[in-house]
Amino acid sequence: MSWANEFVELSKSRHDRNSFDCGESELNVFIKTQAYKHMQAGISRTLVLPSAQPLLNQKYAICAFYSVTPSSISRETLPLQLAKKLPRYPIPVFLLAQLAVHKEFHGAGLGKVSLIRALRYLWDVNHHMKAYAIVVDYLNDSAQHFYTKFGFEVLCDHNGRTRLFLPMKTVEQLFT
Ligand SMILES: CC(C)(COP(=O)(O)OP(=O)(O)OC[C@H]1O[C@@H](n2cnc3c(N)ncnc32)[C@H](O)[C@@H]1OP(=O)(O)O)[C@@H](O)C(=O)NCCC(=O)NCCS
Repeated sequence: MSWANEFVELSKSRHDRNSFDCGESELNVFIKTQAYKHMQAGISRTLVLPSAQPLLNQKYAICAFYSVTPSSISRETLPLQLAKKLPRYPIPVFLLAQLAVHKEFHGAGLGKVSLIRALRYLWDVNHHMKAYAIVVDYLNDSAQHFYTKFGFEVLCDHNGRTRLFLPMKTVEQLFT
């Protein structure tokens, strides 16, 4: 199975959510049962990378996906050096809420491609609505290694997970 060129918005009728398996049940359940509902409810947007060819059911397999939503952090969670330049009210950020690759493609560079596309997407949104940073709450140690490889730094504990962040100024250096 090979993948298409572009990430597109998740479609219930075009994308085969049931066959997605990244090896992490929480993310599998999210794409199968919650991602579309969350889009309908207006609380997050999910972009998927479909397979190049349809499956026997005429739907396209999901090779990778990411979900994003606006969020905010408190300045107190940031390193002092950064915090002192910021106001005391909530600081707008983009939350990279989910990112996963079908296990058939693990280790083939698709995680990297997905993360870069997600950062690019958020960088484009940032032209219309500013955010200070991109944050991600990582699922397991393996995911932490993945994100820190790309420059994410530890921010704080959040709902029992570790929250990582990447300042938008760093993202800017990637795309300008
Ligand atoms: C984490 C995940 C997205 C990585 O996807 P992938 O396609 O296997 O990753 P890639 O092949 O693009 O690897 C990109 C880089 O990250 C590194 N990397 C990938 N997985 C890693 C891991 N588990 N631990 C450490 N490094 C890892 C690779 O070595 C590679 O580094 P390189 O560019 O120096 O060679 C994928 O394993 C996955 O979907 N896991 C389950 C869901 C999950 O945990 N998502 C994170 C949610 S918080």
